[in-house]
Amino acid sequence: MVGELWAERSNGKCLFRLVGKKDNTSRGWWRDGEPLTHESTVRSVALRISVEPLSEDVTRRLDLDDRNLPSAVELSPLGDIAFVATEGSNSVEVLDAYSGRRISSIDNATQAPEGLWLDDSGARLYVQGFLSRSVAVYDVGLLIGSGSNRAELINEIATTTSEVLEPDVLAGKRIFYDSSDVRMSRDNYLSCATCHLDGEQDGRVWDFTNRGEGLRNTTTLRGKRGGQGRLHWSGNFDEVQDFEHDIRNAFGGLGFMAQADFEAGRDTPLGEKKAGVSKELDQLASYLQSLDRVPDSPFRTAHGGMSAEAKRGQKLFERLECASCHSGEAFTNSGDDTLYDVGTLSAASGLRLGNTLDGIDTPTLLGLWSTAPYLHDGSAATLDEVLERAAQSGKHGDVSSLSETERAELAQYLRELDQSVEEAHETDGAEESGCGCRLAAEDPPVQGVSLAGLLTVLLLGRRRRSGPRR
Ligand code: HEC
Ligand code: HEC
Repeated sequence: MVGELWAERSNGKCLFRLVGKKDNTSRGWWRDGEPLTHESTVRSVALRISVEPLSEDVTRRLDLDDRNLPSAVELSPLGDIAFVATEGSNSVEVLDAYSGRRISSIDNATQAPEGLWLDDSGARLYVQGFLSRSVAVYDVGLLIGSGSNRAELINEIATTTSEVLEPDVLAGKRIFYDSSDVRMSRDNYLSCATCHLDGEQDGRVWDFTNRGEGLRNTTTLRGKRGGQGRLHWSGNFDEVQDFEHDIRNAFGGLGFMAQADFEAGRDTPLGEKKAGVSKELDQLASYLQSLDRVPDSPFRTAHGGMSAEAKRGQKLFERLECASCHSGEAFTNSGDDTLYDVGTLSAASGLRLGNTLDGIDTPTLLGLWSTAPYLHDGSAATLDEVLERAAQSGKHGDVSSLSETERAELAQYLRELDQSVEEAHETDGAEESGCGCRLAAEDPPVQGVSLAGLLTVLLLGRRRRSGPRR
């Protein structure tokens, strides 16, 4: 999940400075016998890549201890000092670019800082705060010139005149990102945004066996309005406020709920309701509830309609009665609190709340095009693979009755499922290419994510957005 790119030319070679997080997907009780803890889940780094030949100078990789979600990097005019913004920790780290030694840290440098710019003289650093809706201006002249470790705030400029989010939603979104709050996380490593940046998913499969679960594929929160029935693949939570458990345990946070309230029957996820008890947890829930749309599928026609192939796939979806589980507007019957064994469970699937796991909560099918890999354990890299597995097991719809062409049509239908409403249009075809609002179908997004890679490096195009980012 990475940020910014900074190019420098040196000896005719192009060097890029990048920041990113390393996801520890080699660790966990199932994978290497070690628990995934608050400090061993992710680490933040700044690195340097040269283009010809394409390589990283690993000896010059800078490790950022106790920080979450680095988002931007700037270098001093001489290239000896690196400023790194951390979106999850609300700080700007000031590092010796050669040794990696931390010279200073500018704390509370806006909320969710994600853009940095140093003016030509190198004296002023501008920090853009995504969630404070501001740009803070720091005098860093002394810091660069004399080795002092002081940066002085000169000004903070508001970047919005009217806020589009409801107050509770904005407050919840700030909580969602902020790991510097000791109630959220110990040592400033984890917040919800660490794995769900912008409410999306990181494409990772985490080993949550020590949480009483198993291998779990991160789900997007977009379009789910805080929950479509039970939460999680095993349906082990029934409200967003239940994340108090992950915060207290996996993140090492102190928690947002008063201890007495927690102990009054709320110390198990499916126990007494937690809603209405902690202002912050309710605000977190308000933010998740505001995520009411999945990204539009680029596989649809220019006017937002379904392709002919997908329409044939829809008929097959009906014929095979997939909607007996993937039902209603949200394509899920999760509200029925029933778990189904559709032939996808393995030993790595682990447990549910520390007990036997005998099925999975039906997931929605909206927005599937953007959420690879698939299934609770991420064991299917593509939708075609989900169907291939279903045909083999015979336990996930009667997919084996389909011809190869039909199976492709069904997969195409799944790729085009979103919340689009076809726009009215007078002429089809001829004008289609003139509409710049969608990508062409021949230009599908990259599917499949390497699970083995410890380091996610996503140059530019860091976020695929379904609309303006708010
Ligand atoms: C270490 C990565 C990580 C962090 C940090 C994280 N999540 Fe998740 N999230 C996941 C994974 C993996 C899943 C799927 C796990 C499962 O279903 O058992 C998930 C699933 C969810 C779901 C279920 C969605 C659904 O449709 O069932 C919600 C809601 C959610 N996370 C909210 C949060 C909130 C709120 C926070 C912060 C308190 C958070 N997550 C922090 C990785 C993470
Ligand atoms: C008996 C209930 C049931 C029926 C019928 C059913 N599904 Fe599912 N489906 C599930 C469950 C449960 C899962 C989650 C399995 C897992 O993650 O291991 C799932 C997962 C999926 C996924 C992967 C979603 C994701 O986000 O990873 C796709 C795609 C899918 N189903 C398509 C279909 C199609 C197409 C049909 C009809 C041929 C169908 N399903 C019939 C219950 C059902």
